[in-house]
Order: sequence, then C-alpha cells, then structure tokens
Amino acid sequence: MKKKIVITYGTFDMFHIGHLKLLKRLKSMGDELIVAVSTDEFNLGKGKKTLIPYDQRAEIVAAIQYVDKVLPETCWEQKVSDIKKFGVDLFVIGDDWQGKFDFLKEYCEVMYLARTEGVSTTMLKDSLSAIKKISKEDLINALDILERLRNDLA
Ligand code: CTP
Repeated sequence: MKKKIVITYGTFDMFHIGHLKLLKRLKSMGDELIVAVSTDEFNLGKGKKTLIPYDQRAEIVAAIQYVDKVLPETCWEQKVSDIKKFGVDLFVIGDDWQGKFDFLKEYCEVMYLARTEGVSTTMLKDSLSAIKKISKEDLINALDILERLRNDLA
C-alpha cells in the first residue's frame, strides 16, 4: 500500500514546544512527514526577520524524530509543485492559516490544526527585547535582592 505522505510549511524560528507538538501530531497523521522550512530571504519578503539563520533552523527541524525530510520554502507558488513531486496526500498547517490554503484541496487533503496556546516565536522575541530594556542599575538591584534572599535562607 502507498505510504501516506504529510507536508507542512513554516519558519520554525527559535524552535519551541508549539513547533514540537505540531510536528508530533503531523507524523501521527501519516507515514512520512516532509517539512518545508522557509528561507531567510522568503521571510524577509514577508516582512519577517528571523533570529536563527535558515541552515540552523533546517538542521534543528531535520533532527526531530518525527521529521523524515526537510526542504527549503523559497516562494508561495512551490506548494502545488511540491505536492505533485513528492506525492503528498495531506497538507497540514496551524489554524492561524485557517482557509488560506483551501485552493490546495484540488491536489490533496488540507487540514488546519489548533495551535499550542501560550507560546510563539513572536512572544519569545518580545520577552528578549523586554529583558534587553531592563537597565544595568535595575539588574544590579535585582541581583542584590536575590543575594539578600539567598543569605536569609542560608
Ligand atoms: N504553531 C503551533 N503552535 C504554536 C506556534 C506555532 O502549532 N504555539 C505552528 C504554526 O501554526 C505553524 C508552525 O507551527 O503551522 C510553524 O509556525 P511558525 O510561524 O514558524 O511559528 P510561530 O511561533 O507561530 O511564529 P510567529 O510568532 O513568528 O508567527
């Protein structure tokens, strides 16, 4: 019997638990999982600057046990040709894209999955910039407080 091939597309910048849970669910939906990781140039075109470069994002995704194949996503148009080329049966993506890829139903099954709540690359980037905004003085005061607490507990 033909293997069921699943494909998804994404940036996977600052790889987090929402990404891992998505990939685990996708693998359970078929026999082989292909992940197209968007290149830095493609992201720039969408007005998105990635923190981790493509090669590293692709290497991390390829090392995930649920992932069988990684390829670069370089443009919006490649989905139809990827689906034909790899004999894809199922296209799945998070429901932040709900309805956006229904045109692919002509070529394979299309599904949207609920995102893991409370985590995203945007949130991680925002926390980093919030930390950066803390002044050196605030940081020293906070360390002082921690040191005093540690001494009190000792
Ligand atoms: N995803 C998910 N749960 C999350 C975050 C992402 O299921 N909490 C899914 C997305 O729906 C998408 C895939 O993971 O199918 C890759 O998403 P990506 O855009 O790379 O990650 P985000 O964390 O959503 O990044 P950003 O905040 O930049 O949009």
